Amino acid sequence: MVRNRTYEELARRLGPVETIIADIIERNGTASVLEIGAGSGIIMHQLHLKFADALEIYGLNRQFHHGNHQLSMEEGVEFGTFDERAVRFYEAHRTPMYLCADAGASLPFADGSFDFAYSQATIPFVRDKANLTNEVNRILRPGGSARIQVNLPPKFMLGDTDSLFKIEAGGNVCSIEAFVDTVDGLTAMTSEAGVQYLEVDKRPQNPLNVAPVSFEYVGDPECPYIESIYRLIA
Ligand SMILES: C[S@@+](CC[C@H](N)C(=O)[O-])C[C@H]1O[C@@H](n2cnc3c(N)ncnc32)[C@H](O)[C@@H]1O
Repeated sequence: MVRNRTYEELARRLGPVETIIADIIERNGTASVLEIGAGSGIIMHQLHLKFADALEIYGLNRQFHHGNHQLSMEEGVEFGTFDERAVRFYEAHRTPMYLCADAGASLPFADGSFDFAYSQATIPFVRDKANLTNEVNRILRPGGSARIQVNLPPKFMLGDTDSLFKIEAGGNVCSIEAFVDTVDGLTAMTSEAGVQYLEVDKRPQNPLNVAPVSFEYVGDPECPYIESIYRLIA
């Protein structure tokens, strides 16, 4: 089953994303934003209802049936997140846009398409997390940034792993959070609620120069996530 969390949970995990978007709109007049692993898309709609036509928002899912406007509105009304005002809003506005693609492959967007991207509870299911990190950097505009939750909370880390995204360097294997200390454009962050995420700040070049070592399914076989290990390319 796909979890479709609301903005309040996103803000708990990744901090006040609304403020980041409001600042971009104040500076540029508009903001172009991508959610990676949007589920039904309730959060995209909450943000769109707040910023209206100043926000162009796209959602990416691997499975088409996981998200679309109608599903999001139905679930949002059922959960009490959306009311009549939201339904009326979409009688007069175009809806958020959904795309279907594997976030671990090439992202289906031109270089420099977005001011901001975010992702929660999705990257654990993505195979090539390093490629995704480089792709996120590619699709950001100069000055753009992204907040990406790459791990699960410790209580969900079933299997013999403490991190789903690891790098072999200097004979040691370390988590991406420990590794990015030395990487320009990537920062390991922790939200006020204690949730770890990776911040990507746009750079002209790929932030990660690594090659895959292994991809291994871990956790619940019904809904497995993937431990992705890389080595540094000299
Ligand atoms: C557990 S749900 C989380 C949904 C939402 N972010 C939330 O927090 O409620 C994972 C979402 O990620 C998407 N997803 C999983 N693997 C993906 C991949 N490789 N590429 C793109 N989307 C993926 C699924 O389609 C699903 O919508």
